[in-house]
Amino acid sequence: MKQFRVDKSRCIQCGECVKDCVFGLIGMEQGYPVLPADKAAVCIECQHCMAVCKPGAISILGLYPGDSLPLEGQLPDQRQVETLIKGRRSIRRYLPDPLPAETIDQLLTITAHAPTGVNARGVEFIVVEDPGTMAAIRQETMEALQDLARRDAIPESLECFKHILPLMEQGYDPVFRGAPHLLIASAAEGVPCREADVFIALSYFELLATSAGIGTTWCGLGKWAMVDLAPQLLQSVGVPDHHDVVYLMLFGKPDVQYYRTVQRDQDANIRRLVK
Ligand SMILES: Cc1cc2nc3c(=O)[nH]c(=O)nc-3n(C[C@H](O)[C@H](O)[C@H](O)COP(=O)(O)O)c2cc1C
Repeated sequence: MKQFRVDKSRCIQCGECVKDCVFGLIGMEQGYPVLPADKAAVCIECQHCMAVCKPGAISILGLYPGDSLPLEGQLPDQRQVETLIKGRRSIRRYLPDPLPAETIDQLLTITAHAPTGVNARGVEFIVVEDPGTMAAIRQETMEALQDLARRDAIPESLECFKHILPLMEQGYDPVFRGAPHLLIASAAEGVPCREADVFIALSYFELLATSAGIGTTWCGLGKWAMVDLAPQLLQSVGVPDHHDVVYLMLFGKPDVQYYRTVQRDQDANIRRLVK
């Protein structure tokens, strides 16, 4: 049974929780909101009822409104968010020093607030925290690619690895960009919107990291190498069974600074539909 409590001394009977419930599960009884037992089973635990209640009268799932962050006057303004979105860059040069474990924890805990389809919250991260493990992953990836190249088993669609491999052998790192950290983001096969959920979570992570002076790179080459070309590498990093690894992201302290945004053709891909 999902805990749903209304503090009648605070409730102003405005009905906002009723209007905001995603499946219309909350009703009014004698002027106060109720979540009937038969409907509670359908609740997706989104907590909108608690978030939308101005006086903080609703507690759900054992959570109390006083423990939430207050929002009035606290959101960044549009100009700040615009600068964040336009000023974020793919970082391809990193300092070798690892970030403190608490910083990484904080980034991932906040990232867990990203939206997920049906509020499934099934995105899981394997995080590489220490540079030694990162070095081992680089080495194992190179060896797996060498093995494929020896057997002439690199498919035409991923021929770029035929050019990338010699660079790796010379000590360059075109796949992992010298980053001290890697996120491997996956979700179990049953998670309804797993691809979208992972992409959204990583996008949030990227913006949050940027705001903290931490750089990120979407690691498409790493994804192709570890997921598509040499999936045995995923077992060695402990991806749970029946999980789809959707994407990889590098992160760490940047060894590069950008002084201005890039400029993009803002209207390029917009077609306005009028009926
Ligand atoms: C799905 C995806 C995969 C990417 N894979 C790589 C990659 O493997 N290596 C890399 O250096 N950059 C990668 N990038 C970064 C893009 O090249 C980059 O976003 C683009 O050039 C624009 O630069 P910006 O991110 O600084 O705006 C990837 C980006 C996305 C969205």
